[in-house]
Amino acid sequence: MALQSTELTPNTGSEIFVDKSVLLSGALAGELRALLVQRGVIIARGLNLTDDEQRALARSLGDLRLGTVKKEGDEGLMKVTFDAKINPEYAQFFFGSQLWHMDGTYEEVPPFATLLTPRVLSETGGQTEFVSNYAAYEDLPDDEKALLDTLTVVHTMQAALFPGKRDCSPEEFAMWCAYPNREHPLVWQHKSGRKSLVLSTSGSHIVGMHPLDSHDLLQRLMRHATQEKYLYRHTWQMGDLLIWDNTGTMHRVTPFPEESGRQLHRFTLNGEEVVRGVV
Ligand SMILES: [Fe+2]
Repeated sequence: MALQSTELTPNTGSEIFVDKSVLLSGALAGELRALLVQRGVIIARGLNLTDDEQRALARSLGDLRLGTVKKEGDEGLMKVTFDAKINPEYAQFFFGSQLWHMDGTYEEVPPFATLLTPRVLSETGGQTEFVSNYAAYEDLPDDEKALLDTLTVVHTMQAALFPGKRDCSPEEFAMWCAYPNREHPLVWQHKSGRKSLVLSTSGSHIVGMHPLDSHDLLQRLMRHATQEKYLYRHTWQMGDLLIWDNTGTMHRVTPFPEESGRQLHRFTLNGEEVVRGVV
């Protein structure tokens, strides 16, 4: 079955045009996964998926992350919101989502993909932005790629969060530091053969490199990877579905008023491969 789609920017993001019943049948799962890895982000308008439909679609695409089930019917569901009454665990780290990041860089096998649908939108801001860590790598000169292919980065919670909350308390900073660190190669050679930068604000420093050089290199790569030419900015409409490949993109949310009550429903797919360096 041919999946109808159009590219939204040169490097990142495709819109698909699909009947809801066909989408939920699972018949397009193989094509959707291929398009996701190729384009980083897939969106569809006007689907108005329920939680059960969104979960079923997630399950057709991979291994659903179950998380903590708080009440029946919520299996795998995370409510993305500032509102601590709705999601206290998430709300305390939500400010970090305004910085460019990959999810789960603290895990040996970072999540593969995430599906989002809106439930409450903000009248201003609250767009979700994505850049392609594949395209950012592929555009680098060969000699730089050869150097980056050899490097390893330490990812930490304090690196991920401090830039978003410089006025944090010492206790809060200590709490972030208590999370385990994780090392990943700077360049991921995926099973598909395609390579991407494992770039995220969580990247604290490069193993064995002088701190100044390490800082400058990570900052320069971040500026390179977040150029407009790698960006897809999603302006939400009710009814949307958005899926992103977390292994080959970074994302962030643009600022929006907390009192807007903005809320998205999210289901995440577990990763399928460790971050393997270039061999
Ligand atoms: Fe995130």
